[in-house]
Amino acid sequence: MADNYTLSGSNSTDGTELPHVEPTLGTPAVDVRGLNQTAGVFTFDPAFTATCSCESDITFIDGANGQLLYRGYPIDQLAANASHLEVSYLLINGELPSRTQMDQFRESITHHTMLNTSLMNFFDSFHYDAHPMAMMTGIVGSLAAFYHDTTDIHDPEHRETFAHRMIAKIPTIAAAAYKHSVGQPIMSPRNNLGYTSNLLRMMFAVPAEDYEVDPVASKALEVLFMLHADHEQNASTSTVRMAGSTGANPYAALSTGIAALWGPAHGGANEAVLNMLNEIGDASNVPEYIEKAKDKNDPFKLMGFGHRVYKNFDPRALVIRDYCHQVLDHYNNQGNERLFDLARELERVALEDDYFVERALYPNVDFYSGIIYAALGIPTNMFTPMFAIARTVGWSAHWMEMMNDPGTRIARPRQVYTGYTQRDYVPTDKR
Ligand code: CMC
Repeated sequence: MADNYTLSGSNSTDGTELPHVEPTLGTPAVDVRGLNQTAGVFTFDPAFTATCSCESDITFIDGANGQLLYRGYPIDQLAANASHLEVSYLLINGELPSRTQMDQFRESITHHTMLNTSLMNFFDSFHYDAHPMAMMTGIVGSLAAFYHDTTDIHDPEHRETFAHRMIAKIPTIAAAAYKHSVGQPIMSPRNNLGYTSNLLRMMFAVPAEDYEVDPVASKALEVLFMLHADHEQNASTSTVRMAGSTGANPYAALSTGIAALWGPAHGGANEAVLNMLNEIGDASNVPEYIEKAKDKNDPFKLMGFGHRVYKNFDPRALVIRDYCHQVLDHYNNQGNERLFDLARELERVALEDDYFVERALYPNVDFYSGIIYAALGIPTNMFTPMFAIARTVGWSAHWMEMMNDPGTRIARPRQVYTGYTQRDYVPTDKR
């Protein structure tokens, strides 16, 4: 705690002293927990634009300077040098692993990749055109039916097993959802393959043929997964924390994160960007769509633009933008080159437009991620599941951190009530 804040102004909180919570990096926060008791008012912050919901050691974002750190390490250094499992270990345990720790972690993840056969049968009950995110929400929620009795949320070892199990099983679940949607047999995981190679094989191999994993595709997924692994208190992570704060089992809590991620304002943006680019179709239509995005009477927004926290640039977008060129060059992918050129033109026009400049609206990570996924042959409705696979690490790390914090209480916001004042019941025949 450092200096205290004193509220002043023309309301009843005049003179109330508020303590101040000091971070290791970033903006300090005013601790308003006692405010209702001392001053008889609530704070009002719908959409939480000025509210810190917890203290956390995991991820730091400096929105003004485009900085993203996982446990203190800059995202560009991790994306250039680490693997997704190494980053997963870092996010969950707080430190980069030694060689032995990494070997043990990889071994543990590898041996949790399979799904219970009864759970596999659930996929058959979904309609053939069910969105993979709908299947993933249901399947992950139902993991609670298999592991609830063996998960003691108060035991750190059980919490760790949950995290390993989730990180291991989520690619198997996503790939099975995809296989169901294309009517192909579900492929079992192969424990001799790396994390992303195994995912690619489970998605694209068929029992009738041999399948060789393309190392460029596997590396591209590693980079994308590291960039998406965590992002502090975003909508889906906050949802997981809120559900978890009730003491709900972690599989149920994690399924709420998948549901929250699905929306186009969050993880669904990567799918929405590709749909938007296909709708725009040609660079000559860009000015028309820029005008639509600026028109307050038109619901159209430039998908992949803007961010609640980054008001300068999204450091993940910088890494991925360079990577996009490499992947498209490798595949010499004419169809997606066209989409990438269109995306670059859209970006150029928007960044010179006063509307976007004044509001600090820059391309975010998902402006480019969909183009890479498309180049790798991943179907559009699997883009958000890819994000969910990566973010499972962050959700698990945050749930573990929250459960490890003795100060955790049920998250229970209040409201400013604007409905009727009290009135009397009127019998049906008198209404
Ligand atoms: N296109 C056009 N106008 C926009 C856009 C956009 N993409 N984003 C924000 N604005 C405008 C908005 O209308 C508002 O204008 P005004 O001040 O005149 O009312 C102003 O910019 C501020 O925006 P906001 O809606 O207050 O910003 P927010 O922090 O509530 O929302 C956002 C952030 C990311 C939800 C929003 O920018 C958006 O919907 N972007 C498109 C969806 C997208 O790309 N989401 C992925 C985010 S990155 C992946 C992730 O981490 O999930």
